[in-house]
Amino acid sequence: MDLFNVYPINPINIVRAQGSTVWDAEENPYLDLYGGHAVISIGHTHPHYVQRITEQLNQIGFYSNSVEIPIQRELARLLGEVSGKEDYHLFLCNSGAEANENALKLASFYNSRKKVIAFSKAFHGRTSLAVACTDNPSIIAPVNETDNVIFLPFNDEEALSTAFKNYGEEISSVIIEGIQGVGGIREASVSFLRLIRTLCDQYASVFIADSVQCGYGRSGLFYSHDYAGIEADIYTMAKGMGNGFPIGAISIAPKFVATYGMLGTTFGGNHLACAAAVAVLEVIKQDSLIQNAATVGSYLIEELRKFDQISEVRGRGLMIGIDLPSELAHVRKDLLEKHRIFTGEAKPTVIRLLPALNTTKEMADQFLTAFTEILEG
Ligand SMILES: Cc1ncc(COP(=O)(O)O)c(C=O)c1O
Repeated sequence: MDLFNVYPINPINIVRAQGSTVWDAEENPYLDLYGGHAVISIGHTHPHYVQRITEQLNQIGFYSNSVEIPIQRELARLLGEVSGKEDYHLFLCNSGAEANENALKLASFYNSRKKVIAFSKAFHGRTSLAVACTDNPSIIAPVNETDNVIFLPFNDEEALSTAFKNYGEEISSVIIEGIQGVGGIREASVSFLRLIRTLCDQYASVFIADSVQCGYGRSGLFYSHDYAGIEADIYTMAKGMGNGFPIGAISIAPKFVATYGMLGTTFGGNHLACAAAVAVLEVIKQDSLIQNAATVGSYLIEELRKFDQISEVRGRGLMIGIDLPSELAHVRKDLLEKHRIFTGEAKPTVIRLLPALNTTKEMADQFLTAFTEILEG
């Protein structure tokens, strides 16, 4: 049997990792500023994380949601505290797409409406409704097509107001990334997020903050939507939550009332996933990693803005997009092949930096030195 060939991959076999360093099979070290796509939040194989998961595995790895799982409550308490949403409720699942799928469903159960507003260049995942809200026709299968999703231009306040004026009573939810990831590191403006909040309140629609990539401290605040000083009704999260252990969740405002069977999953909230997520939050809290993301991120952004060759530097904290002119499209490949630095990309020519939240200034400098050398040819 061979693999179903859907991923264009780098021919590198990573066999070992620690912090922000990964090693290939030939023992070559690489600086990881990609974090396996914004997933590695506290660094690879963090000792506290390894210890927590190992201890849990030795006790019990899995049982379904038919019994008491106290570590779920421990996770909920800690997440409420670190995210500043202590009165919200937690539903656990397994991935970002699933988190968004559940959020969109919950919104629709709540207000018995069908229409969703999503935005240009949005990415919300690959399950049926999440992908229908994703602005990429090439990954929407015919079976996922629906007239229920209305796409509007990102950050266009007039278009948003008009849409609500035209069919506000039909709009179940608005889903938006605080900073678009796949879309090229583009921030939702503060005034746009505030307008979404106002219109959702006015029309009894649900504000869903997709924080799968931009959340969990990456932006320098727990949710990047927090920069707008607003509260969403549902926050979705995944990537950084488990530092590589598959786990997703939605944080749900108190106004939503749960009923048995309304949402559900076999694997979501299992002991092992919760142990991973608790360990991540403990490290984020103990080591002030959100503050570190803000500090090191600001430093990197400021330094990158000094390069005239870059078309634009976007983002906040450790979610940074370096938009390059097409003649510099080779830089990302050079970073990997000549300097052994992993970065992410957004098509066509944006380098995405999504490193662990405990990235140091020294690592940032290592990147900046390599970047300078490449530009100087
Ligand atoms: C903003 C956003 N939402 C949702 C998803 C989907 O997450 P997953 O791949 O875990 O299903 C992603 C994945 O890249 C994402 O960036």
